[in-house]
Parts: sequence; C-alpha cells; structure tokens
Amino acid sequence: MKILETEHLLLRHLEPGDLDSLYALYSDPEVRRYFPEGTLTLEETKEELDWFLHGHPRHPELGLWATIHKPSGQFIGRCGLLPWTIDGVFEVEIAYMLGKDGWGQGLATEAAMGIRDYAYETLKLKRLICLIDKDNLASIRVAEKIGIHFEKTGLDDKGPFVLYSVEQIS
Ligand SMILES: CC(C)(COP(=O)(O)OP(=O)(O)OC[C@H]1O[C@@H](n2cnc3c(N)ncnc32)[C@H](O)[C@@H]1OP(=O)(O)O)[C@@H](O)C(=O)NCCC(=O)NCCS
Repeated sequence: MKILETEHLLLRHLEPGDLDSLYALYSDPEVRRYFPEGTLTLEETKEELDWFLHGHPRHPELGLWATIHKPSGQFIGRCGLLPWTIDGVFEVEIAYMLGKDGWGQGLATEAAMGIRDYAYETLKLKRLICLIDKDNLASIRVAEKIGIHFEKTGLDDKGPFVLYSVEQIS
C-alpha cells in the first residue's frame, strides 16, 4: 500500500518480496554503523519485515516503509515513523536509512521532508522527534535541514540517546 510520494521517491508498506533488499541494507556494517544492535542476520531482518508488513502492529498508521527511487524503480532504503515512549511521553520518530548507492543526492532529506509533511497533514501529529547518535553527522544534518533541532540527551535501556525534535507551528 502506498503511503506517500515525493518528487523522486515512493514510500509504501514493506512486502515479503523486499526481504533481499532489506537484508542488503541491514547486513551492511557502514549503513548500520550508528545502530547499537549493529548488522542484522537474514532471520532478524525477516522478523522485522514481518512486524512491519501492515504498518506498526499497535499503530498501523506508523511503521517503516519501503523507499523506492521512482526514476529507477529500485528499493533504495527504508524510512518511516516509529512510536516510542520516552521519559513517560508518547513520541513519534522520523526514521530514515538508505543504502550507500543512495547517499549524497539529497534523497534522505527529501524522504524526511515528505514524512514530516505527511505526519503533520495526514496524521495530524503536532510533534516529531529524531533519536540520533552524537557522531552521526549525516543524520544530524538531515534532521536540521527539515527543521528538527537538538532538545536533550538521555539514557534508556539501549544506552545514551540524543533527542532532536520539532513542533508544528499552526
Ligand atoms: C543519514 C543518511 C540517511 C543520509 O543520507 P543522504 O541521502 O546522504 O543525505 P542527504 O544527501 O539528504 O544529505 C543531507 C545533508 O547531510 C550532509 N552529509 C551527508 N553525509 C555527511 C557526513 N558524513 N558528514 C556530515 N554531513 C554529511 C550532506 O552534505 C547534506 O547537507 P548539505 O545539503 O548541507 O550539504 C544516510 O547516511 C544513511 O542512510 N545512513 C545510515 C543509516 C542511518 O544512520 N540513519 C539515521 C539513523 S538516526
């Protein structure tokens, strides 16, 4: 199911046939560099794919979505919206991850901007966050380019986190 489109990208629900493309992403140490769990196995990738097939099971309007490059028709990444409870507060995170072939072309910024606007306009969310490793400069830059700014640092069961946020001004 299609979620949203931008000039160069189509975001849709993940499908079983995306497994190899998703695994190529999740097994790449460079792509997974700033994720505490590191690379994933094929089995772990399949578990995550199954979890998100119809959106997030508890919040189906959210989830991780296949990110398709429209000019080539290629699966180039997975991006989306994820629910978290942080310091007792429900938060929605904009998540973005592209394979290395897609880096450096403004595509992550385009995806994040499309997701931000979809969250505001279609889902009527007022506040969005990004959780970013302090050394992940590319990701921090993407967040800043779409108006998401540093809010606070914290500690959870996965370790220290840095929280960036934005609130819609209406
Ligand atoms: C983070 C990521 C999505 C960025 O993708 P991208 O398509 O290269 O991003 P863009 O082309 O939209 O670039 C956005 C900005 O980041 C900058 N940037 C890219 N790589 C950078 C780096 N290594 N260091 C500093 N800035 C960087 C770009 O120059 C650009 O800023 P500019 O327009 O001011 O020049 C991509 O690197 C990725 O998928 N990484 C692995 C997964 C990941 O870490 N996701 C984020 C988890 S919080």
